[in-house]
Amino acid sequence: QKVAVGRAHSKLILIGEHSVVYGQPAIAFPFKQIEVKVTVKNIEGNAIQIESPFYQGPLEQIPEKMEGIGDCIIQTLKVLEQRSSGLHIQIASSIPIGRGLGSSAAIAIALVRGLFVFFNQELSDSQLMALVERAEKFAHGTPSGIDMMTASSANPIWFQKQHVVEHVKIGAPFHFVVADSGRVGDTYAAVKSIRDKYEIKPEKIEESITLLGKLALEVRQGLAAGDSQQVGDKLNQAQQHLALLGVSDPGLDGLVDTARTAGAIAAKLTGGGRGGCILALVENEQLGKKVADALIQAGAAQTWQYTIAKC
Ligand code: PMV
Repeated sequence: QKVAVGRAHSKLILIGEHSVVYGQPAIAFPFKQIEVKVTVKNIEGNAIQIESPFYQGPLEQIPEKMEGIGDCIIQTLKVLEQRSSGLHIQIASSIPIGRGLGSSAAIAIALVRGLFVFFNQELSDSQLMALVERAEKFAHGTPSGIDMMTASSANPIWFQKQHVVEHVKIGAPFHFVVADSGRVGDTYAAVKSIRDKYEIKPEKIEESITLLGKLALEVRQGLAAGDSQQVGDKLNQAQQHLALLGVSDPGLDGLVDTARTAGAIAAKLTGGGRGGCILALVENEQLGKKVADALIQAGAAQTWQYTIAKC
């Protein structure tokens, strides 16, 4: 039996979520501790069977909420010029869904990679991005593209729409705690709520968006200098603006406060907000443990310690 595996990791947006939709720059990290693994096998007959945590059965009966995944498989097989062989596609993921950790992008990337390996074909970056972008449109409507770029990158990235992705220099290791609120966020609704406010009062929204872009630039400088205080100061300011834009919520604000009180240099939401995750910048791993414990006490569903190495 022929077996092929495709993988893709999670992502963390350090700064720039939402403002990135309006053309401002953002910084995001690959989050390799959690990932999607897709295993493709050949089976008798010519049906495509899906095995995933959300659905098991034939591809034709895939539920509507997994439409993007179904479409991604069909489009990838089209590009590969493969149609009628029987396939078993297993999707396994340790990335919680709808928490701003890029699970939808990671699933699509792992699927495309797994299918290309199975059919022994070279996959170019542009082919991968075109297939994943289609799948992301099902999940998000008008995604900026930051999720799929980060989930397929081994290094921290500087992302701005219509620009080439740049490497972000990290002058010293930075330690973070990521905490999952346990609540599914709604990126689509959060993006739309900012758009609606923008249509009523563009100046007010523009001010926060522009400031978030400026803060991203300052965070980039702080990362290069290995200056955790500067980075932290800017991340805290970013949280204020995200709250002003209305994409934080009392649950996330509570976790942010808990992290800061427990000794984090900074804390902010990460990803679409209104549920999902927060990240906290800490001086070292020991403090990270203390902050993680406090976050669990405060009701976080799970936490991860994350270190971005010098690079
Ligand atoms: O997929 P999420 O929840 O991590 O959100 C992506 C970041 C946003 O800026 C909110 C949306 C986008 O398309 O960039």
